[in-house]
Amino acid sequence: MAASKPDLYRKLSEELAALLAGEPDFIANAANMAALIYHGLPDLNWAGFYFLQGTALVLGPFQGKPACVRIPIGQGVCGIAAARGATVLVPDVHDFPGHIACDPVSRSELVVPLIEAGEVSGVLDLDSPLLARFDAADQEGCERLVALFIRHQRQ
Ligand code: SME
Repeated sequence: MAASKPDLYRKLSEELAALLAGEPDFIANAANMAALIYHGLPDLNWAGFYFLQGTALVLGPFQGKPACVRIPIGQGVCGIAAARGATVLVPDVHDFPGHIACDPVSRSELVVPLIEAGEVSGVLDLDSPLLARFDAADQEGCERLVALFIRHQRQ
């Protein structure tokens, strides 16, 4: 039987903590986190980071097909999550005005902002080819993974 989502995210948190342990390099850790998520969660076609540079989010480490490089704050699901400083869960990207279709195969999306000392520094973006792939358990699990990553990089 497949593991429950909370169990799966607990396991991913432990694996992420082990991957980050003793390594301060930001890019290396972000790259490994994207790979861990992409290969650890079922039914994803993209998982990765965008980091804030000025007024735009710029593509960071990811797994999946090549993606849009720059997303202005306030645009697309990523730019809206960054502008709000809050997670955005989109069950059907076709119903989300302004969604940026880097890959037309994507049908649902979850974007979690990276918030350091009250400021958004980037986002973690997950895409799925399945409709309504993400739910509250995914949101909570991914927010915990992002919190772990930020805590580690602050040390
Ligand atoms: N769909 C995102 C753009 C990034 S790609 O999905 C990797 C958005 O609307 O912001």
